[in-house]
Amino acid sequence: MTVTIVELVRLFAEPLSTAVVLTDIDLEQPGPTILYANPAFTSMSGYAGAEVLGKSPRILQGPNTNRQLTRVIARRLQVERRFHGVLENYRKSGEAYLCEVDVRPIHGRNEEPLGFLAFEREVVRRRGRPAQGAGGRYQPIVSEAHEVRTAWATPTPFC
Ligand SMILES: Cc1cc2nc3c(=O)[nH]c(=O)nc-3n(C[C@H](O)[C@H](O)[C@H](O)COP(=O)(O)O)c2cc1C
Repeated sequence: MTVTIVELVRLFAEPLSTAVVLTDIDLEQPGPTILYANPAFTSMSGYAGAEVLGKSPRILQGPNTNRQLTRVIARRLQVERRFHGVLENYRKSGEAYLCEVDVRPIHGRNEEPLGFLAFEREVVRRRGRPAQGAGGRYQPIVSEAHEVRTAWATPTPFC
């Protein structure tokens, strides 16, 4: 039985409450191209899965997108094939939201890179100063966020 990467990602990502976006490996504009996005991505962004197929994750960018940061993302993805940070994304409605984005490569049998997989979660700002030992200025609105809470100190790339 041969299962494609898209089918495999769909199987594990469909029930998740974390948004998952799968793209091809081509970073040159207009790429990377979205091959799959799960229902949690639709809930967060307002874009239906079918609507984003063939488009680039740049559709999530908007008027206040930090171009210095997108250059950092481009470089990280080219050199390390990874990016992990908090970005200002835009829903289909035009509303901005803070989003923790963790992009990783998917490799084939011979270690050749085949695509990128992103895990995306909306984060909300806490009011006031963070408590000692707390996760910084952001807290997730999704329940399983304890794994990443400690990493959310600043809206800049983590790696
Ligand atoms: C799987 C994946 C998910 C991405 N998700 C986002 C995102 O949510 N928001 C965003 O601004 N950029 C996202 N990007 C980054 C953009 O697609 C693009 O790589 C970035 O804007 C840098 O390239 P550019 O300088 O050519 O625009 C994602 C990239 C990949 C590969």
